[in-house]
Amino acid sequence: MRKYFKTAFVIAAFAAVLFLLDGTSQNAQVMTNKTAPPIEMPKVIELAKGSKQGTVTFNHVKHNSGEYSVSGPIQCIECHHTAQPASELAKHPPLKTDWPAGRTTMLTMELFNTDPKAAGIAACRDCHAKAGEKPKLLAALPVLKDPGSTTMTTLTNQLAFHRTCDACHFSMSMNRPDSKVPSATICASCHKRGT
Ligand code: HEC
Ligand code: HEC
Ligand code: HEC
Ligand code: HEC
Repeated sequence: MRKYFKTAFVIAAFAAVLFLLDGTSQNAQVMTNKTAPPIEMPKVIELAKGSKQGTVTFNHVKHNSGEYSVSGPIQCIECHHTAQPASELAKHPPLKTDWPAGRTTMLTMELFNTDPKAAGIAACRDCHAKAGEKPKLLAALPVLKDPGSTTMTTLTNQLAFHRTCDACHFSMSMNRPDSKVPSATICASCHKRGT
């Protein structure tokens, strides 16, 4: 009997805590409604979703927390190439575009944790849209001249992602043959059909 009583008490106490928690989360809701939605650090990102080739499940956090390493942690700007000042970009041709234009900071985990809004991160697809689509942040899709030729390449989402992902995985597979990086020629090492 005493045992049941105790259980009932525990349940009542739990309910009271839930009630309090509910109250605070409602307050938080009211507060965040007044400001812009917070910028979150995505952990896992589903790319190429709904494409014929199949969804790519990209583990963002493993790539940017130091868990996956290429002679040290992978820097944010290895992928988010526009999130650095023009003076830094000048050291890495053909890169030259900074966003937001005139920025003075370089994206790092520290900068993001201090002030996510000031970190200045744009989604790749906001500039590298699909072929034939106008990107959200640019007048037109980025175009680059191929080194050593006059051929111009339009950096669609497909090309921009493949170049970024493959360049690093390829050099990893050369330098560390034991690493479990996807192979550029085995599409299914990234794209999972039927997803
Ligand atoms: C290996 C590549 C890679 C690295 C390294 C990387 N990211 Fe990303 N990040 C991405 C991709 C891809 C997306 C998804 C972009 C899209 O949807 O077009 C993304 C999205 C984001 C977003 C969400 C942006 C939005 O508007 O939805 C944030 C925030 C972010 N990254 C922060 C960081 C920070 C901070 C670092 C460094 C600590 C970092 N990333 C390192 C590839 C990377
Ligand atoms: C604000 C617009 C913008 C965003 C956001 C952006 N890019 Fe780009 N990207 C460009 C432009 C413009 C170029 C052409 C070079 C330049 O002007 O810097 C380019 C060039 C590239 C290149 C070719 C670089 C080379 O050396 O050949 C790759 C690959 C690339 N972007 C991948 C990405 C990926 C992956 C993301 C997201 C993590 C991303 N870009 C986000 C605008 C953007
Ligand atoms: C700067 C280097 C670098 C870049 C850029 C990069 N990767 Fe990776 N990737 C790695 C490393 C390192 C590993 C882990 C290898 C290991 O575990 O041995 C990895 C592993 C993976 C794996 C297999 C393990 C897992 O997490 O499922 C996938 C899939 C993958 N990467 C997808 C991508 C995609 C998609 C992109 C482009 C948006 C990308 N990567 C860009 C370095 C990179
Ligand atoms: C390193 C991982 C990786 C490998 C390997 C890879 N892809 Fe991709 N692929 C991606 C990512 C990431 C995107 C970008 C999708 C987006 O914009 O969301 C993409 C986009 C595409 C798209 C455009 C889809 C769309 O909706 O715009 C096609 C088509 C495609 N890949 C085909 C292939 C083929 C064919 C192969 C093999 C020769 C291949 N991919 C190998 C990661 C990979």
